[in-house]
Amino acid sequence: MSIGEVRASRRIVFSGLGALGVAAALAGCAGSNGGSTKTKVSAGTELATTAEVPVGGGIILADQKLVITQPTAGTYDAFSAVCTHQGLLVTSVEDGTIRCANHGSAYSATTGEVEGGPAPSALAKVEIKVDGDKILAA
Ligand code: FES
Repeated sequence: MSIGEVRASRRIVFSGLGALGVAAALAGCAGSNGGSTKTKVSAGTELATTAEVPVGGGIILADQKLVITQPTAGTYDAFSAVCTHQGLLVTSVEDGTIRCANHGSAYSATTGEVEGGPAPSALAKVEIKVDGDKILAA
């Protein structure tokens, strides 16, 4: 599997270095899932594998409304993928920034804090744990 591929079964939007085109193409689809700020994932649920999350980038899990990032090699973070501006899903992760192309908000891929755009507040942090090569909801 290459970065930039979308697996329909888990609706992961891969985003990272070199995947900008795919992320942009999917922005309209992801945006239609917004509206709720709830992230519903049971503890222990496998969210992704570590190999699926590019260093410096991340993946957007549209169904779970989560974004998982790997700001530096071996460090994984997760946040709500629901933009705090108007509740649409964020659209890409690149160069350490989670972006919402809907209106131009940007968030830190490390902390979820707002880095730019109209978003009024940070993305909510979501607890995860890494078990071997699996990333699980905590
Ligand atoms: S909904 Fe994300 S910037 Fe407006």
